[in-house]
Amino acid sequence: MNIDDIKTICVIGAGNMGHQISLHLALFGFNTACTDISSDALRNAQEFAHSYLKGRVAKGKLPEGRMKEVLGNLRFTPDLKDAAGSADYVIEAAVEKIDIKKELFAELDRTAPQHAILATNSSFIVSSRIADSTKRPDKVVNLHFFNPALVMKLVEVVQGPHVSDETTSISMELCRKIDKVPVHIRKEVDGFLLNRILWAIKKEAQWLYDMGVASFEDIDNACVYGLGHPMGPFRLEDLTGIDLNYILALEKFKQTGVLSDLPSPSLVEHYVKGEHGRKTGRGWYDYAQKLDTRG
Ligand code: 3HC
Repeated sequence: MNIDDIKTICVIGAGNMGHQISLHLALFGFNTACTDISSDALRNAQEFAHSYLKGRVAKGKLPEGRMKEVLGNLRFTPDLKDAAGSADYVIEAAVEKIDIKKELFAELDRTAPQHAILATNSSFIVSSRIADSTKRPDKVVNLHFFNPALVMKLVEVVQGPHVSDETTSISMELCRKIDKVPVHIRKEVDGFLLNRILWAIKKEAQWLYDMGVASFEDIDNACVYGLGHPMGPFRLEDLTGIDLNYILALEKFKQTGVLSDLPSPSLVEHYVKGEHGRKTGRGWYDYAQKLDTRG
């Protein structure tokens, strides 16, 4: 198989990442089916696709005629069998729970064509923990997009020991075809590449805040105005989701056993209150004025 054989793609999950990954693929001409068990998530993703594309047309960034074409490439369905049944490539962007992913991949193995590559967009679950739920471990790979997936160019392609060179090279080519910049990660390491770097920044920022050295706003400002980052670590947690960051910290602690890797009390407080960031209207910052519909 080669990259030209990839025409139809299935995205599992219409949440924070899946809704943008599927729209991005449709923008680049792939016949894309996005599926989710939540009808609300599917409806939101569909509404987002329409409003985003309208916005691109209004900004002069997308010819009006192309909007219909892109929408024609994209469909939303609650039926996993329907979405994956004719897929050449599947990208799973469902909840970050290993048992659910294992079940999903077993189901995908039964449903998707034999030649299909099954990728996971997980932020931290390496594909070797999922691959043995399938009879095609050589075709199960991590393809890690960054939030917001329509904008961020980086995609991490993680080649675990079970992943074939063919799967890796097709995955890298797929990223290039959709104008992303893939990086090839040759070992399954916790946090892959970028989340390890981010972790170091976030952990230090959190410590400075918890010690009362500065407000989280000032720490964010320091990173934006001193390092040129597009946003500081606290605002970034709001974008990626306090819930995801909470889970990431617990996972990190499980790996290291280091107490300071546990989610900090202030992060736990936001998590417990349901203040999960932009998507809920409140996290570190208050977004109540304008609930974010883009991510
Ligand atoms: N969804 C889609 N598009 C968005 C968007 C969103 N949520 N937010 C902004 N955009 C688009 C805008 O439409 C605009 O597009 P255009 O220039 O083509 O018209 C462009 O991005 C710039 O938008 P704005 O001018 O409104 O805002 P900014 O210049 O502040 O950019 C940002 C917003 C792109 C989010 C920028 O702040 C940024 O790059 N932030 C850092 C994001 C980051 O670090 N992501 C990685 C997170 S880690 C991760 O995802 C890993 C996971 O495992 C946790």
